[in-house]
Amino acid sequence: MKAPRPYQELLAEILVSQEQLQQRIPELGAQISQDYRGKDLHLICILRGGVMFLTDLMRQVNIPHTIDFMAVSSYGAGARASSGQVRITLDLTSDIRGRDVLLVEDIVDSGNTIASVLELLEARHPNSLKVCTMLDKKVARQAEVPIHYTGFEIPNKFVFGYGLDLDEFYRHLPFIGVVDPSKYTPPD
Ligand code: PRP
Repeated sequence: MKAPRPYQELLAEILVSQEQLQQRIPELGAQISQDYRGKDLHLICILRGGVMFLTDLMRQVNIPHTIDFMAVSSYGAGARASSGQVRITLDLTSDIRGRDVLLVEDIVDSGNTIASVLELLEARHPNSLKVCTMLDKKVARQAEVPIHYTGFEIPNKFVFGYGLDLDEFYRHLPFIGVVDPSKYTPPD
């Protein structure tokens, strides 16, 4: 396999800087801590993109809470975009019945992933089920989804970093970058 290129060769611009992220996350953590005080808060991270945000966010949530992880994938090439349906590839290890569940995502784009996950989890009867996303690409929305906590609303640009990958790489970057389309060729 060819070694991936340094991210600098693919970066058009930094859309959300490390400083902006690290300033916004404590604000979200404080809001969540206030809203869920006295409740049974259970944070669920949708792998893999949400993992950076979850670990930063939970350090800013100053009330007792638990975490769990799940992963989903679409039903086949292009299926997510057309049908919006996803299947669970890695299920929760916890029972969410009666709990106050907050889904933690890196980005809501078309909204199809979160719409489908909400439907799947609602059937398990949590006490409440809400969504917290670092990035909201509202202009790309296909499915109507309720979002309760948003880090940043972003334009319709191809972004990577801070959990978001480009062909599975660059998730570790501490900022959100925009891919330069003239320098990036998707794999066949
Ligand atoms: C990304 C992201 C969201 C989803 C958002 O996941 O983490 O789960 O896409 O897109 P949507 O709103 O258009 O459904 P991806 O499938 O790329 O998997 P990953 O998190 O493992 O990178």
